[in-house]
Order: sequence, then C-alpha cells, then structure tokens
Amino acid sequence: MPKFYVDSGIHTAECTTFMETMMDDSVVDLVVTSPPYDDLRDYEGFNFDCKDVAKGLYRVVKKGGVVVWVVGDRINGGRSLTSFNHAFAFRDAGFMVYDAMIFKKRNTPFMRKRAYTNCYEFMFVFTKGTPATFNPLRSPSVRSGPAQVPYLKGADGVNRKTERSLSEHKVRTNIWSYAVGKNGTTKDMYAFKHPAMFPENLARDHILSWSSRGDLVFDPLCGAGTTCKMAKATGRRWLGVDVSKEYTAIAKRRVRQTVADSISSLPSRSDPFDELVMAEENSRMEANIMCQWCGVEISHDRWQLTGGRAVTCSPECSLFNSRRRRNELKRVERAARLETVL
Ligand SMILES: C[S@@+](CC[C@H](N)C(=O)[O-])C[C@H]1O[C@@H](n2cnc3c(N)ncnc32)[C@H](O)[C@@H]1O
Repeated sequence: MPKFYVDSGIHTAECTTFMETMMDDSVVDLVVTSPPYDDLRDYEGFNFDCKDVAKGLYRVVKKGGVVVWVVGDRINGGRSLTSFNHAFAFRDAGFMVYDAMIFKKRNTPFMRKRAYTNCYEFMFVFTKGTPATFNPLRSPSVRSGPAQVPYLKGADGVNRKTERSLSEHKVRTNIWSYAVGKNGTTKDMYAFKHPAMFPENLARDHILSWSSRGDLVFDPLCGAGTTCKMAKATGRRWLGVDVSKEYTAIAKRRVRQTVADSISSLPSRSDPFDELVMAEENSRMEANIMCQWCGVEISHDRWQLTGGRAVTCSPECSLFNSRRRRNELKRVERAARLETVL
C-alpha cells in the first residue's frame, strides 16, 4: 500500500517521522525550505537533526529533483558556520551542492560592532543529479543592441572583438535581493505570528525556476506555509509539514485564501521573463501595503480592486478625508483672504 499523500496538504508532524511513515521513494520534484539553526528560536522544544532530514529528503526526492535550503549563521562574536555544516550534511547524504546562492535582505536592522552589517543568508541548491527542470529567470540588461564583444584570446594573447547583438534580457545572477519584514515578506499580517518566515517572492522565484506546473513542491519545515502558498499560486501541488500546530493552522489559512494558478508569468527560454514587471510589482507592494494616512493595512480585496494602486485603506478613510477637508477649507480661506486684499 502506498504511503504517500497524493493530495496537496499541510500536516502537523515531525518531518523525519512523516517522511519515513507517510512518503514513498522519489515522489518530490522540488523542496523549498528553511531550517531552524543554532537554537536561535525554540520551536516547541523539538530537536532538529540536519543529517536525518538530509537523508530523508534524499530518499523522497526524485532523480533530477532539487532542494533549496535557506539558512544563515548565528553571529555571536564570530559566525557559527552552521550553514556550511548543513551543506556538508546534504553532500554526505548524496546530494550535489549545485549552487550556493545568496538571499540579500534589502532592509536589515542588525548592525555589528567592528564588522559590516550582515545582510544575507545562503540559499543552497542541492540536487539529486543534474536538475530535471531549469526555467531561468531573467533581468534587464544594462546594454543591449549591436556591440563589439571580445572573444577568447588565443595563445598570442591578442584581444579580438566581434560584432554581436546583445539581448535586452540576461539570465539573473545567483544573488537575489528581497525586502523583508512587514513591508516585504508577505501581506498576510496574521502570518507574522511566525517569527522566521522567508519572503513569498523568494519562494515564488525558486518554484518558477526549478519546477513545472503540476509538480509536487514539498516543505518539511513549512512554518507559516510560505512555500505551500506560492506553490498553489503557481499551479503546483504542495505538501507542508511542521511540528507546530499553531504554525500549520496559519499555513492552512494562507493556502486556503490563495487562488490556485494566480501567478501565471512562467519564464521559459523562448519567452524571457520580464523582471521589470516583477520589480514594479514588488516596489508597489512595498510602498502601498499600509494606508498612507492612518497606517492600517490595505486589505487584499481593495489592493486587487485598485490594481495595486491603493494608498488609503478605504475611500472613506477618516484621517485621509479629514485632512482633505482641512486642506480644502484652508484653500477656500486663502482664496477669500486674497479676494479681500484685492
Ligand atoms: C525557519 S522556520 C520555517 C519558516 C517558513 N519557511 C515560512 O516562511 O513560514 C522553521 C520551522 O521548522 C519547524 N520545525 C523545527 N523542527 C522541526 C521538525 N523536526 N519537524 C518539522 N518541523 C520542524 C518549526 O516549527 C518552524 O516553524
């Protein structure tokens, strides 16, 4: 009898036990997850053993499958280098360390004495062989059109150039940057009960890069369900597991409220992904998530209704309207004074 849950779902369980008892071999296309590290937070006192999780994942991931592992280091005087230990644990379990990408945080309050402010975590990309899927995300090129491009120097060391046409988009680098916190990670304010979510856009970009529509995306440490939410939004199946009932309740709510397949901009080789659109969408999200007048969160419905252009929580926002009335009154008084002077 198959152990595997075929339906998408979120479960409260310890992840190694869940994998062992509930999941068949080679069923997962992509894992996007972030582990606890260095006991920075207490997740209901549960023990987390990276080696066991890596072994379990190696069994359940398909050949050509990918694990994106987002992890940092405790900085207390020096760096713990736990992130590196995790990478070695995955290599020992059989994975190839395909890339060590960087998640750069656009806003970070953690200054250090006598050191530069740390603004990144690793996004290790572990693969079971060569990745079966890679849809490269692209960004706009600085230069495009006809240009003189140097090509390989010969033994004579002479720099030769050739005429080429540079394209308007180029494949992104492996450093990705996202806003974090209340204005960047998510618009689901209730999800911030979880202390350590990663940004929705980070999960989205990895899901688009390393999987196809209909694939199974697994998060064994799903927390508030960011990966599962974005898997649903991009038309994938999702499976989330977390030890905490409180967090899986948040994850279930977030997934329930997400419209399946609502993010349709799939990158492909023939249809370069328009990162400008993404960048614009990100900056609008960051700028407008709160009412500029009273500071209350702008609801998802209003956000959608206004095509992401809302600056007030409602057309009737009392603070906005009282200021508008005050300004209108001032304008009328000024006009009246001017008339008297004339
Ligand atoms: C860094 S958080 C993940 C946050 C998630 N990426 C998000 O965006 O919401 C790590 C999660 O692992 C869970 N956890 C810790 N040990 C676990 C274990 N052995 N099995 C399952 N979940 C575990 C914690 O409850 C916590 O929610």
